[in-house]
Amino acid sequence: MKILVTGGTGYIGSHTVVELLTEGHEVTILDNLSNSDKRVVDRIEAITGVRPDFEEGDIRNKDTLDKLFSDTAYDAVIHFAGLKAVGESVQKPLMYYENNIAGTVNLLKSMGEHGCKNIIFSSSATVYGTPAFVPITEECPKGTCTNPYGWTKSMIEQIMTDLCISDKEWNAVLLRYFNPIGAHESGMIGENPNGIPNNLMPYVTQVAVGRLKELGVFGNDYNTHDGTGVRDYIHVVDLAIGHVKALSKLKAGSGLSVYNLGTGQGYSVLDIVKNFEEATGVKIPYVIKPRRAGDIDECYADPSKAEKELGWKAERGIKEMCADSWRWQKNNPNGYDD
Ligand code: NAD
Ligand code: UFG
Repeated sequence: MKILVTGGTGYIGSHTVVELLTEGHEVTILDNLSNSDKRVVDRIEAITGVRPDFEEGDIRNKDTLDKLFSDTAYDAVIHFAGLKAVGESVQKPLMYYENNIAGTVNLLKSMGEHGCKNIIFSSSATVYGTPAFVPITEECPKGTCTNPYGWTKSMIEQIMTDLCISDKEWNAVLLRYFNPIGAHESGMIGENPNGIPNNLMPYVTQVAVGRLKELGVFGNDYNTHDGTGVRDYIHVVDLAIGHVKALSKLKAGSGLSVYNLGTGQGYSVLDIVKNFEEATGVKIPYVIKPRRAGDIDECYADPSKAEKELGWKAERGIKEMCADSWRWQKNNPNGYDD
């Protein structure tokens, strides 16, 4: 298939492009490089032996989109482009609503006008808010998000739902990711956050590589087995493969579908520290800090719907996730700047 991947030089997008190319799909990446590096395209080529087309551009620019869809009859779009920093979204809500929501509406309009009505969207477990129950199934009611970033995901899901109701030619797959970590086993592509990382695993790897002194563990009084927060960490390559599998849903012409992409297994912050140390032999000093605003006790998926309907199941375990995150960080201590 011919696939347009928005946000394809980013963390999850780049791993998905590798899997798409490996499966023989033709890929064009559209990315404005606001949170990624063009050198990712070289790395993707080095891994797969195929160079994806790359267009530097913004999903908010309708002319850019119209030109892409006029030039090529894409079978589907995989839509990763978006801003994702939770704290920044609280400070700059309009920037998030404009980039994520206005950008997505723009994309959907251009797609519809050019007869490309198949889309896979990067949603998030954040749409469940404080989950009504765990493990979380897709039937779990959506909840109150604690930040504008989360609301953009929830609102875009609604926009795509309404679009599929209004026009039966549209097929949309909403993939609700749990916590992606890890990196391609080559160590050539991986997560490359700007500044001090917000998320656990990049913080841990930067402590390991000596860029940061110690990990702050945000709270040890949660209602979990050791008091620290529990999440469903999923290897980014498993997540990427989930997107390739989800393409089959678009071909089947099935309207709107929603899937959790997680492993079904929860790990606490201290479990992650322990597994990282065992997998890499590197010690992670940590201190207990106060809880972080908006965090919940535990969040993990029931991923059985994706297995039943897409034939997809996460295969990579926690040790492999830690080892692969570490290989990427160790080989690229300054990200793509090396
Ligand atoms: P990322 O920041 O690495 O990738 C996003 C890419 O989109 C970047 O390359 C960025 O330059 C690009 N981009 C942003 N705004 C754009 C615009 N207006 N036009 C064109 N390109 C634009 O993030 P990621 O971790 O790879 O996440 C990919 C998607 O998955 C995002 O939508 C994110 O919200 C979602 N998601 C991520 C996580 C996570 O923990 N990483 C969890 C759930 C959902
Ligand atoms: N944590 C620490 N110290 C840190 C960073 C995180 O103790 O320095 C803890 C958090 O308190 C939490 C766990 O590690 O218990 C995971 O935190 P992350 O920030 O890595 O991930 P979250 O579950 O908070 O959120 C992530 C993404 C969201 C997404 C959500 C669900 O950041 O965008 O997963 O997919 F919505």
